[in-house]
Amino acid sequence: MALMRLAYASEATFEAQPLEKGVEPHVARILMVSRRNNGRAGLVGGLYYGDNRFFQYLEGEEEFVRETFERIRQDSRHRNIRMLIEEPLDVPTFSNWSMKYVPLSSDVQAFLDKHQLPDFNPAAFSSHQCEEMIDLIRRSSEDQKLVNHDEDSPARVQHSQTLSPGVRYGLLAAGVMVIVAVVAGAVLF
Ligand SMILES: Cc1cc2nc3c(=O)[nH]c(=O)nc-3n(C[C@H](O)[C@H](O)[C@H](O)COP(=O)(O)O)c2cc1C
Repeated sequence: MALMRLAYASEATFEAQPLEKGVEPHVARILMVSRRNNGRAGLVGGLYYGDNRFFQYLEGEEEFVRETFERIRQDSRHRNIRMLIEEPLDVPTFSNWSMKYVPLSSDVQAFLDKHQLPDFNPAAFSSHQCEEMIDLIRRSSEDQKLVNHDEDSPARVQHSQTLSPGVRYGLLAAGVMVIVAVVAGAVLF
């Protein structure tokens, strides 16, 4: 099984909505489909969107990376795609997840400040800066500092999995029992 990794920069063709309106709906839709498809294909990576530009990193089995990128390349929601990295990979560098969306956040702002970059323009990143961006994606995935936009809903910070499914179902069952007890009490007394 040959692995590869790929990173590119592109420009969004849609009009960005004001930041205060929350998650860009186009990006939310892209992410929803990406997570589904990439999960099936065993691809990992991340998508940054800011200043109406994209930076995407993908890694996984070569066949699936190429197939996915071919679809992405033909997508009219972006243009001027510039390949930044396209190379074989020996060992996977991400531990889990199918696709992450990392909004332009304080760590990206710190990265831009550090390199004295006036705005988010990944097409102009040096290879070293690309690696730094990939590291940011990797680290935010490990910290779980991610925003889940699976639904077209306002941004929700997805903190680490605080409750295991067992505990969650336990609490749910306890909640149901409390409701039953209250209803039974009201009926009986
Ligand atoms: C910037 C950008 C990034 C995208 N990233 C992915 C991706 O990682 N995986 C994916 O399946 N589709 C991605 N898409 C969407 C694809 O272009 C395409 O719409 C989608 O794969 C079609 O999937 P479907 O045939 O299951 O509807 C992306 C689109 C854009 C504009």
